[in-house]
Parts: sequence; C-alpha cells; structure tokens
Amino acid sequence: MPRGFFVTFEGLDGSGKTTQLKRLALWMQRRGLMPVMTRQPGGTSTGDRIRELLLDSRGRSLAPMAEMAMMFADRAQAIAEVIEPALAAGKTVLCDRFTDSTEAYQGGGRGLGSEAVLTMHRVICGGLQPDLTLLLLPSLESSLERARRRNERVAAQSGKDEGRFEGEQDAFFRRVWAKYREIAQRDAGRVVCIAGDLTIDEVHEQVVEAVAMRITEASRV
Ligand code: TMP
Repeated sequence: MPRGFFVTFEGLDGSGKTTQLKRLALWMQRRGLMPVMTRQPGGTSTGDRIRELLLDSRGRSLAPMAEMAMMFADRAQAIAEVIEPALAAGKTVLCDRFTDSTEAYQGGGRGLGSEAVLTMHRVICGGLQPDLTLLLLPSLESSLERARRRNERVAAQSGKDEGRFEGEQDAFFRRVWAKYREIAQRDAGRVVCIAGDLTIDEVHEQVVEAVAMRITEASRV
C-alpha cells in the first residue's frame, strides 16, 4: 500500500485557510477521493481539551514555553491517533495547521526562535513532514480584521472564547507574518505561498493547481 499524501494549510488567523481546506476536500470528494480532515490544536478528544486551554483568553499568563509544549503535546496525540494511521492506510490527510504554525507563532510571534521549535519537532514528530504546505498570506490588515470579527461572532453565538491569540498586538502578528515568509523561502520545495488579497475562488484555483500537480507527480491518492 503506497503511503498517503500529507497536505497542511497555514496562515494567519483570518487568512481563509479553513474555508480553503473545506473547498479542497469537496473538490477531492467529487473526484471520489476521500481525504481525512483534521486541525491543530484539536482534532482528537485530548487535543480538543488542550485547544480549550490554549485559546481561552483567560489564559493570558500562559508561559511561552508552556504554550509551545502544549502545541506539541496536541500534535503528538494527533500524529499517533489520526495522521499516521491515515497515511499508513494510503489516505490523503488535510491538516489545518502543523509545525509551521508553532514556528511562526511561538518561534516568531513569542520570540522563542526557530531552533527551539525545530528541535522539538524532531523529537516529538520524528521525521514527519508535510508533502505539501499551502500558505495563505493575504494582507495582514484584512486577516486581522476578519479574525477579530469572526471571534466576536462565535463568542456571541456559542459563548465559546477562542480569542487569546487574536487579542495580541499587531506587532506580534507582524512577527508571525515575517516568520511565515522566512519558512516559505527556506522550504520553497514544500511550501506554496498564495499571497495577496484574492477572492475565495481565485485562491481555490491556485490550491487545486498546486495539489493536482503534486498528486499527479506522486500518483498516490
Ligand atoms: P485556528 O483558529 O486556525 O484553529 O488556530 C488556533 C490558534 O492557535 C491560532 O491563533 C494560531 C495558534 N497556534 C499557535 O500559536 N501555534 C501552533 O502551533 C498552532 C497549531 C496554532
């Protein structure tokens, strides 16, 4: 059984990556391909509990190192429970965020640096790397506006508080943004960066183009 294909979506809060992941899943399903969809933090019952701790804005005092360790605890569980079994069964996995998020947010945003994140990645995730990463980078301003509006809506509708990161200052997100760009340049073979304020359809076209090309090359969906 050929191993499955591992695709991750990355970007700032409000970059539209979750919408694009769902559009891609639909595109694949219409072609008879049944991807496994998951997200980080979350995606397992342990991960959902870690997500609550990480995103609740009452957790402001969480130390950056604790935050990074919790991101990796969530990831270790997701790899063991969801990602590895699916890839071993030859399935395509679409994952909303992976280690690039930790490098951008904790490494860049919190200032822990790439080396600390990549060292933890080696230990916790072994050799697991995405086959393809779709990095969505609309302008910083439009991402933040969308993320903050969405959070207010979700909090009003469900009472769920997931606003801890969106509550950060713009300078934090500028550092996250810069780190994402650095990752895209460093890992240009893996990361396809879709930049600019494009429509949902325009981004979807570029996502499909990148995925179709890689999947044909690997011919293993
Ligand atoms: P989401 O809303 O896209 O699911 O992301 C949840 C938040 O968690 C988002 O603000 C980014 C943050 N995050 C990190 O800071 N580090 C990580 O490793 C991951 C996976 C997410």
